[in-house]
Amino acid sequence: METLEEKVALVTGGTGGIGSAICQRLANEGAKIITTYRNEEKANAWKTAQNFDVSIYACDVSSYEECLKLHDTVIQDYDRVDILINNAGITRDSSFKKQTAEKWNAVISTNLDSAFNMSHQFVNGMAERGFGRVINISSINGQKGQFGQTNYSAAKAGLHGFSMALAQETARKGITVNTVSPGYIATEMVMAVPKDVRDRIIDGIPVGRLGKPEEIAALVTFLCTDDASFITGANLAVNGGQHMH
Ligand code: CAA
Repeated sequence: METLEEKVALVTGGTGGIGSAICQRLANEGAKIITTYRNEEKANAWKTAQNFDVSIYACDVSSYEECLKLHDTVIQDYDRVDILINNAGITRDSSFKKQTAEKWNAVISTNLDSAFNMSHQFVNGMAERGFGRVINISSINGQKGQFGQTNYSAAKAGLHGFSMALAQETARKGITVNTVSPGYIATEMVMAVPKDVRDRIIDGIPVGRLGKPEEIAALVTFLCTDDASFITGANLAVNGGQHMH
């Protein structure tokens, strides 16, 4: 039997590298997949390329109002959400001296406010039904910091504080809340890092390569199962040994 049969999973930013692999893997386990997009053209091309059923809705996760609207639509169409993967994220890298308020705000609102905006819509329903999974996709750079990423590192570190606090508030309701912190994964986001910088980063990964999106998706999927019911408030690193703590 598929382990996530009949579960409804909402993955934000499912059209990206890691999000896409998560959607695919959860679908393989029988979950019904819902995802969000900001770029309609990219989203339509992405949906056509998938070999599983997926509903895809426009939603800017940095906007509370849009998340509220998404909630109403999803509940109308699917009745509930059992699994929420807060995965949507952006980078606006620059050294601190070149950092602008615009870049700061874009990253904090898309990568951190979004976890509140989305979780606030769906956690109460999970609590009423006595089952839920919230997984916040953070980053190695929220754990160790990264030159050029004061904004991103702050948002990603903040996500785990959010996970730990929400985990405590929901643990008695059958809901687990965890953080997954990928290292450098072969996605468009990492490929946008200048090649010389990226090569130096790869030199510092003990496993000797970038990670694969599927390696993140495998852990996320496990965390959604009943076998993972006792894991909550954890920050799980998947980084090829680049940062150990
Ligand atoms: N450590 C120390 N010094 C560094 C440095 C580092 N890692 N990187 C650059 N510098 C130094 C340069 O040597 C240079 O020094 P001098 O001025 O003395 O010559 C100076 O910083 C350059 O500063 P600038 O402000 O001019 O920076 P820049 O415009 O050249 O670009 C950067 C800086 C945008 C941060 C660029 O280095 C970069 O893109 N770095 C990669 C950042 C990164 O890893 N991003 C991850 C993206 S992927 C992701 O986020 C997914 C995930 O979760 C892992």
